Amino acid sequence: MTKKFYVTTPIYYLNSAPHIGHAYTTLAADILARYKKSKGEDVYFLTGTDEHGANIEKAANNAGITPQKWVDNMAEKFIDLWKVLNISYDDFIRTTQKRHELTVQEIFEILLKKGDIYKGKYSGKYCLSCEAYIDESELVDGKCPIHKKEPQLIEEETYFFKLSAYQEPLLKFYEQNKDFLSPHFRAAEIVNFVKNGLRDLSVTRTKVKWGIPVKSDPAHTIYVWFDALINYISAVGYGKVLGINELADYKCDFEQYWPADTHLIGKEIFRFHAVIWPAVLMALGLPLPKKVFAHGWWTVEGEKMSKSLGNFIDPRDITDKYGVDPLRYFIFREVPFGGDGDFSMEAFKRRFNADLANDLGNLLSRTLNMAAKNLKEIPQDCAVSGSMLEKCASADTEYDVHMNNLEFDKALDTAWLIIGGMNKYIDETKPWSLAKSEPEKAKAILLELVFALRYVCKWISPFMPQTAEEMARRLKAGVIEKYPPLFPRIEA
Ligand code: MSP
Repeated sequence: MTKKFYVTTPIYYLNSAPHIGHAYTTLAADILARYKKSKGEDVYFLTGTDEHGANIEKAANNAGITPQKWVDNMAEKFIDLWKVLNISYDDFIRTTQKRHELTVQEIFEILLKKGDIYKGKYSGKYCLSCEAYIDESELVDGKCPIHKKEPQLIEEETYFFKLSAYQEPLLKFYEQNKDFLSPHFRAAEIVNFVKNGLRDLSVTRTKVKWGIPVKSDPAHTIYVWFDALINYISAVGYGKVLGINELADYKCDFEQYWPADTHLIGKEIFRFHAVIWPAVLMALGLPLPKKVFAHGWWTVEGEKMSKSLGNFIDPRDITDKYGVDPLRYFIFREVPFGGDGDFSMEAFKRRFNADLANDLGNLLSRTLNMAAKNLKEIPQDCAVSGSMLEKCASADTEYDVHMNNLEFDKALDTAWLIIGGMNKYIDETKPWSLAKSEPEKAKAILLELVFALRYVCKWISPFMPQTAEEMARRLKAGVIEKYPPLFPRIEA
C-alpha cells in the first residue's frame, strides 16, 4: 500500500499581509511535500488562513469594511503569494468555510456533553496580539514577553476546556513518542510547562462577535485558538465523520490521512500545538499527530520584523528581482531548520553568486559544453561507473536521512559537497585536453558527470523545482543547444 504523508502549516492570521516568516513555514512544508511525493508517497499538504477573532474585527472596522470582506481580500493575498512561490498545496482551508465552522460547533457540543467543556467565570490578563490569556508569572515588566504590550484585564463568563485533566496523559504521551516534540532541543520547554501543572482553558468569548457561535449558547463565540487548531481535522472531513448533515456532499479523507504526520509551526506557537491540541484530540478519542516541529524565527538585518520598524520583508521584492528558486534555496541553506536565522540581502547575494551562479551554474554549463563537443548524444540509461558516481550513491542515502529529519540545510550541504567535488574532478581530469589524447576516457568522464548531475537535479528539485526542471531538460537535450546561464551573477 502506498504510504501516506499528511503535512500542515499554521493557518495564518489575516490582520496583515504575508511576509517572509509566513513564507518560511509554507516553503518548508512545500519542500517536504515535494520530497515525499518524489518518493511515491500519497501526500496531503494543507495550508490556510485563520480568519476569526478580535484582531480581525478591529482591522476590518479600521478599514471601514465588514470582517468577511476583509478576510476575503486578505486571504487572496496569501493565495497569490503561494502561487508566486510555487507552493504545491493540496488544500487551502479558511476557518470561515462551512466545512470548518460546522465541525468546530459540533466538536464543542460533543465535548460539552462529555464534560470536557464546562461553564464558569474567568478573570485574567489577556494579550490581544497573542489572542491568549497570559499568566502573571510570564509577564516581563507587566508586558507580554512576545509583543511587549500590556495585556488587558478581562473578566467574563466563559466555557472552559478541562486541560488540567490531561497533564498526566500528555506527559505519558511525550515519554512514549519521543519524536512528537521536535526538534528535540525544544522538548524540555514543553515537558516542564506541563509538569508545572495545567489550568483549564477558557474556550469562549462573549465580547468577540466575529467568531463561531456556540450552538447551544450563541451569546458565546468560540475562542480563536480552539477554532483554529481544529482546521487540521476539519480540512480532511472530520465533520463528515461526525455525521453533520450539511457536509454530506463533502469529500472525506479523514480515514486516509489522519493522524497528521508533521505539523510545521514556528516556535512561538509550540504550546498551542504540543499541549492544547493533543489534549483536545485525546478528549475526542482521536489518534495524535506523529510530530509537531517548531522552527525558529527570522529576524531581518539583525532586527525583529515589526510593523513599527517597517522591516517586513515581502518575498515578492526578492523574487521579482532574483527569481523564486534562489529565495527558496537561500532560506533553507543559510540556517538550520529549527534554529533562528537572520535575513540579510548581503548574505543572499553572496550565496546567489557563490553557490548558484558559480558552483551549480558553472558546473552545468561547463559539463554541457564539453558534452556538446565530445559526445554524440547523452544516453538516458547506460552502464556508467566511476568514483564520482559512487560518491553520489552514498550522498543519496545521506540526503534521504537529512530530508526525513527535516535537516534541510544538511541535505543541501550534501548536494553542494558533490557539486564542489564535481567541479574539482573536472579541474583535475581536464576532459577537454583528455579529449585530444584519450577521447574514450574523456567520454567516460563526461558521461559520469552527466549522470552525477542527474543526482544533483533530483536533490535540488524539492527546493528549486523550476531550476531542476530546466536542468533536467538541458541534460536530456544535452548536446544540441547553447544555453544561457542558469543564474546570471548579480552585483554584490
Ligand atoms: N493563526 C495562528 C496559527 C494557528 S494554527 C492552528 C498564528 N498565525 S500567524 O499569522 O501569526 O502565523 C504564525 C506563523 O507564521 C509562525 O508560527 C511561523 O510559522 C510563521 N512566522 C511568522 N513570523 C515569523 C518569523 N519572523 N520567522 C519565522 N516564522 C514566522 O499564529
